[in-house]
Amino acid sequence: MNPGSIAVMASGRGSNLAVILDAIEAGSCPVDLRLVISDRAGAEALTIARRAGVPEVVHISPKQYADRAAFDAACADAIEAAGCQWIVLAGYMRILSPSFVQRFAGRIINIHPALLPSFIGADGVGDALTYGVKLSGCTVHLVDEVLDGGPILAQAAVPVCDDDSRDSLHLRIQQAEHQLYPATLTRIVTTGFRLDGRRVIWLKP
Ligand code: GRF
Repeated sequence: MNPGSIAVMASGRGSNLAVILDAIEAGSCPVDLRLVISDRAGAEALTIARRAGVPEVVHISPKQYADRAAFDAACADAIEAAGCQWIVLAGYMRILSPSFVQRFAGRIINIHPALLPSFIGADGVGDALTYGVKLSGCTVHLVDEVLDGGPILAQAAVPVCDDDSRDSLHLRIQQAEHQLYPATLTRIVTTGFRLDGRRVIWLKP
């Protein structure tokens, strides 16, 4: 298996997928993006992936499976068939079943729009704004069985401004995400890391 091969799972707008594709095209992110999976037929991410010429772009409908484990198994089979080393979640809005996480232990990466471990869950942006923090940001982390709880690979902070709405703060966080995600994927497939407990220790180039 190519150690730089990745599958992206996305449910929505796909702006993180788009910047990863741009970075691949520009030669600054040496990953081999083989497969994009979406659980939503209308996801813009599918259009972005097809337009960029990703070799395999699939919509897998949860409605066609008896339960979450069966749906996740179908996604996992597609990922294995495509020979992907890393699974990159980019706005993937479903919680992964324990069997999926165990099958790809240590190989699933997510980006969360807050500085973990604060503000886990579906509305990290709104929860940070409501709480009143003055700094928020984004976190790239490994996925384990705890929601938004895996070891942290990278973080970037942005200010929270007095006149921010949820949308304006999310926009600022996404600008940081669009730098951090391709850069972190590059680092994963070029230098690599080891784990010391929860700590991610980047290997020397
Ligand atoms: C991002 O803000 C990410 O942090 C969160 O979902 C959003 C996805 O945005 N997990 P996009 O679909 O990549 O534009």
